[in-house]
Amino acid sequence: MKGIILAGGTGSRLWPATRVVSKQLLPVGGKPMIYYPLSVLMLAGIRDILIISTPDDLPRFRRLLGDGSQLGLRIDYAGQDRPRGLAEAFLIGADHIGDDPVTLILGDNIFHGYSFSRLLEKSVMDVDGCVLFGYPVTEPEHYGVGEVDAEGRLISIEEKPEHPRSNRAITGLYVYDNSVVDIARGLSPSPRGELEITDINRIYLEQGRARLVELGRGFVWLDAGTAETLLAAGQYVQTIENRQGVRIACIEEVALAKGFIDADACHRLGKENDGSAYGRYVMDVAREFH
Ligand code: G1P
Repeated sequence: MKGIILAGGTGSRLWPATRVVSKQLLPVGGKPMIYYPLSVLMLAGIRDILIISTPDDLPRFRRLLGDGSQLGLRIDYAGQDRPRGLAEAFLIGADHIGDDPVTLILGDNIFHGYSFSRLLEKSVMDVDGCVLFGYPVTEPEHYGVGEVDAEGRLISIEEKPEHPRSNRAITGLYVYDNSVVDIARGLSPSPRGELEITDINRIYLEQGRARLVELGRGFVWLDAGTAETLLAAGQYVQTIENRQGVRIACIEEVALAKGFIDADACHRLGKENDGSAYGRYVMDVAREFH
């Protein structure tokens, strides 16, 4: 299973904050936003990851995460010079995907929930078709929206509908079998000029090969694309972290817990950031690891 993080776009809804730096590098709860989607892929057991961003921002992501080997990962980078839609990720990433299935996650999506690692591992295992994740929201018209029948089977998906058929948003985490590359190659741009991920999902649905996993109550899904939601995400993370003394999306801790690196390597990574509480937390995690 390969992974792709889509961290491009102009960040226009956050201008001027994102005039000279990528949205996905802005801090959320004391760490760069991209740590959140990266940790989701890692929790799913995915170690071969492509980061797609603007040619301008790629060097900064590279400086932050390198080739990923320090985390027991392999990270590659590719440019998307203009936002031509989420589905373009599978065209840009075709070589990276090769003959494998792939999980795509959007760089501004933040997931947090109990036992998420197990749920993810189960979802990416032997995927036949696609797996989407649904989450109830108060303003579904801003998202892809899924409708299910009485048995919980997905029956329709619409992108930002004026009159949503349910309050179930389709989150920015998508698991696909290898046919996604061919499906993406066959897409035409939507009326807004973009290759839509929702069109891909609809094709899987028409083939009877789209499965919806409900992330219900007790689960947290946030996006951090506007000043308000960025602040709300930071406050959520800070509240949990201060109360429990644990860190959400600490990539060094995830790498250690998944067995991608050992405690010594984790400690070294913490030491690189020992000027901050984050770095000291990573060193503590390494020290306490058995
Ligand atoms: C995109 C997708 C949408 C999905 C959302 C999740 O929208 O097009 O279907 O629900 O991500 O964050 P965007 O945020 O790019 O407008």
